[in-house]
Amino acid sequence: MTQDSLKQQIRQLAFERNALILAHNYQRDEIQEIADITGDSLGLSLEAARTEKDVIVFCGVHFMAESAAILAPDKTVLLPREDAGCPMADMITATGLKQMKQRFPEAAVVTYVNSTAATKAETDICCTSANAVKVVRSLEAQEIIFAPDRNLGRYVASFLPEKTFHFWDGFCPSHENLRADEVRRIRAEHPDALFMAHPECHPEVLKLADHICSTSGMYAYAQTSPAKKFIIGTEMGILYRLGKENPDKEFILASPALICPNMKLISLEDLYASLANLSPVITVQEPIRSRARLALDRMLAVPRD
Ligand code: 13P
Ligand code: SF4
Repeated sequence: MTQDSLKQQIRQLAFERNALILAHNYQRDEIQEIADITGDSLGLSLEAARTEKDVIVFCGVHFMAESAAILAPDKTVLLPREDAGCPMADMITATGLKQMKQRFPEAAVVTYVNSTAATKAETDICCTSANAVKVVRSLEAQEIIFAPDRNLGRYVASFLPEKTFHFWDGFCPSHENLRADEVRRIRAEHPDALFMAHPECHPEVLKLADHICSTSGMYAYAQTSPAKKFIIGTEMGILYRLGKENPDKEFILASPALICPNMKLISLEDLYASLANLSPVITVQEPIRSRARLALDRMLAVPRD
């Protein structure tokens, strides 16, 4: 079967199943192309929460499909590759977080959505890279446990010196791959380019950035900035839409190491099979689902711009 006829069959099946195809901004180009909606973690969670479709096919990683299952329990949530995990989400466990809470009983617990449902269930409020500063600022608590991403946590803390932070020592291996000396070198080669970085990058890399934001924030910045050239400090999947939406601008990946193997697992064939077989289904059992839902709902209630 050619790629084009496979794409047509996927769209036909999605129609027959009354399915919404969501794709994260790091997915393969052809998956982003065929999706109904592409977006960052926050945007896709909102879409999952408000869809009236019967089926949500989540082209992303496991924690994202879990969030959709938590927010839309009456829908069938599919993750075309069940083995698409997130190493950062696996760097923390609910038990580990419980132990940290015992050490800092006064602290509010803020957990990045890149975490399992069981970890979210031990959390006061979730955040994404798009809203983390606003979420933590909205809290009355002076003391914060921030998990699991130490880099995003330190970035948030830099805006809120009045609060005391305790960081879980997790990180995204793909973003951690980007080194400050590589960024300095590529900046020197392209002195007319702006450097956009994701807050999952190392603090030494973030110090060099002109703009720090979530993946969807990068689309907005590329479109509104008068600059013609950008160095990109996040996973390479973002280049697809950046190039498509800004044909007159140039985007240079800061390092070839900026790749998340888990985000590259889902193929068109996997997506077709998932829709055809209505599997693998992702579910979250009670009472974890309700407790994790509370943490996600609190996040979604924080006013956006
Ligand atoms: P955002 O799309 O929310 O910026 O998240 C980045 C990421 O690492 C998702 O796995
Ligand atoms: Fe996890 Fe990093 Fe991959 Fe995102 S890019 S899914 S944080 S490993």
